[in-house]
Amino acid sequence: MNNPDVLLDVSDYSVGFRTERGLAQVVDKVSFQIERGKTLGIVGESGSGKSVLNRSLMGLISSNRQIESGSAFFAGDQLVGRDRQDFWGKRIGMIFQDPMTSLNPVMRIGRQLFEPLKQHLSMNKEQASQRAIELLTQVGIPEPARRLRQYPHELSGGMRQRVMIAIALAGEPELLIADEPTTALDVTVQKYILDLLKDLQTEIGMSVILITHDLGVARGRTDEIMVMYGGRMMELAPSEELFSDMSHPYTEALFSAIPRVDQPKHTRLTPIAGAPPDPVEPPSGCRFSPRCVYAQQDCTINLPEADGPGDHKFACFYPVNTDDGRSARAANIENGQTATGLKIQTAGVS
Ligand SMILES: Nc1ncnc2c1ncn2[C@@H]1O[C@H](COP(=O)(O)OP(=O)(O)OP(=O)(O)O)[C@@H](O)[C@H]1O
Ligand code: SF4
Ligand SMILES: [Mg+2]
Repeated sequence: MNNPDVLLDVSDYSVGFRTERGLAQVVDKVSFQIERGKTLGIVGESGSGKSVLNRSLMGLISSNRQIESGSAFFAGDQLVGRDRQDFWGKRIGMIFQDPMTSLNPVMRIGRQLFEPLKQHLSMNKEQASQRAIELLTQVGIPEPARRLRQYPHELSGGMRQRVMIAIALAGEPELLIADEPTTALDVTVQKYILDLLKDLQTEIGMSVILITHDLGVARGRTDEIMVMYGGRMMELAPSEELFSDMSHPYTEALFSAIPRVDQPKHTRLTPIAGAPPDPVEPPSGCRFSPRCVYAQQDCTINLPEADGPGDHKFACFYPVNTDDGRSARAANIENGQTATGLKIQTAGVS
């Protein structure tokens, strides 16, 4: 690895599972980098491989049916092919969607916080206790000393999620992976937690991977965004560029499915028609072709590779906002359907 600012360098990384029906290729040749102190958003619909990608990078998938390939360097150390337990907590922290499944229900909050402090930072009991109170204060938990004696079920969902963040930060990791950290929470708490994460990140200087199915959540909170579909990287760009110069039809479709402040309150969002691909039998050619309003015949034959100028990459033969893209879409609208037979309702397309 040449650039010392790069903390995580993932290249052609794939994860498959042997299943009774055959090989499920859940992550397929994904490449990206994260610099120190930066945030990468990973966005895609349910089943696109976001969690498997990150859990597998962390060595958290303990299945002998798993097949992992490619490379992933963390601060110069190759993760693929080795036990990664020594990275957990200390160098890489994780926050999961549901704090109840990751907090131990029968252990007081205090003990769950002390463990990483003692284990990773070799603190004694007194130091750990003091630091635990600081951490709970940092994540906005009132009466921290009293909380240390409580059990997870005594806290609200939002408070439990803050405790999870405090535990993940306790080991002072260089990278924090936040996998849908707020999906289970209501909108106000969600915003509070995401803003809190951003502030803490700036304070500590760690890198963050923020996984979400909502492109709106990633906007404004990330430096770069990677859009995944069917285990493949569809588009990767600096965050604002992704919105101002969207190139992939799937990104465009995801974008049409998020509520926007400039729309009247009850504007109907356009859900993406159809279902994500089956990882055992994905469609030939571009994985998105059965649902893509731009799809042409060659999209069903050839698999596009993510490519593009500079740090903006996309895997598409007919990118949005190009002459090729515009004519492909216009021809499909004219025909009333795409090369894969997807019917286009002209009323919904402008
Ligand atoms: N152990 C496994 N064996 C076979 N397939 C698996 C296994 N674990 C996950 N998958 C499949 O991998 C695909 C991707 O799952 P993953 O959980 O990574 O999606 P995701 O993008 O995180 O979705 P969500 O937004 O719902 O969290 C799914 O089709 C899932 O069924
Ligand atoms: S235009 Fe073709 S290559 Fe591009 S996303 Fe649609 S189906 Fe895939
Ligand atoms: Mg997931």
